[in-house]
Amino acid sequence: MNNWLELQDKVAIVTGGAAGLGREIGIRFASAGAQVVVADVSDAAGKTLVAELEGGAERHLYAQVDVADTTSVAAMTDAVIERFGQVDILINNAGISAPRLLVDPAGQEELSAELWDKVVAVNQKGPFLCAQSVARTWIRDSRQGVIINMASESGLEGSEGQSAYAATKAALYSLTRSWAKELGKYGIRVVGMAPGIIELTALRNAEYERALAYTRGQTIEELRESYATVSIPMGRPGRLAEIADAALFLASERAAYVHGTVLNISGGKSRA
Ligand SMILES: NC(=O)c1ccc[n+]([C@@H]2O[C@H](COP(=O)([O-])OP(=O)(O)OC[C@H]3O[C@@H](n4cnc5c(N)ncnc54)[C@H](O)[C@@H]3O)[C@@H](O)[C@H]2O)c1
Repeated sequence: MNNWLELQDKVAIVTGGAAGLGREIGIRFASAGAQVVVADVSDAAGKTLVAELEGGAERHLYAQVDVADTTSVAAMTDAVIERFGQVDILINNAGISAPRLLVDPAGQEELSAELWDKVVAVNQKGPFLCAQSVARTWIRDSRQGVIINMASESGLEGSEGQSAYAATKAALYSLTRSWAKELGKYGIRVVGMAPGIIELTALRNAEYERALAYTRGQTIEELRESYATVSIPMGRPGRLAEIADAALFLASERAAYVHGTVLNISGGKSRA
């Protein structure tokens, strides 16, 4: 085991931890010696992952949570404290996207107020509720902690067909800055990560690709082609493991003075 990161026995909550990036982050934290809380709405996938992690359910925990729901988030934090007595790391990773146009002349895929509210509830209110709930325990118990917000390159760059999603990701840049200013004095670090185009996850499901291709006037094949041909200086999409490795570093004492900043991980695609 690589002890350079000193994450042995740290308790790390990964929201949206049952699939995609969150899943990869959980797997890598577990192999670095951390105790992982897979916090997700998806029961079956969450429990399966916990069983597969090194040490299984004896060492890790699945916590059912809807990050957009205050009561559910409070129950998750209580369950983690009851089981482990502490939290060390919160990774605000749960997020959704539903491509729509601001105005669709054809009237097919226009962003509704209801969908706007849903995306904001999960992607923006969710990290707020989780950060508040966990940071309260840190301040109450005079503990230190690390919050990692999963933003996106699209937050500063904007994204055709994903305005609501990109706006919530921009909010995470701002929240990272503000919380860093509020929480630094308690020894709580707040950082963010902004992946660019990464390999396939459940977020890019068939419905997502259909809607995004529509908003961009492309076929699904053209959209997929554009992932490959879009200008990424590294010449390829990012791997889930490469994003997870950045999370390991940011959560560790090796990043003890990294605070209030969002790390761009886009293979050089943008500065955002
Ligand atoms: N995939 C990408 O290309 C990409 C790029 C940049 C940033 N991101 C960000 O990374 C994060 C993870 O994305 P992904 O691609 O792994 O997505 P994914 O769809 O593969 O996984 C998301 C997970 O979040 C869970 N989830 C959804 N709503 C939830 C809720 N209300 N409460 C708790 N859990 C909930 C889902 O059940 C799922 O397990 C998101 O915040 C996303 O915006 C992804």
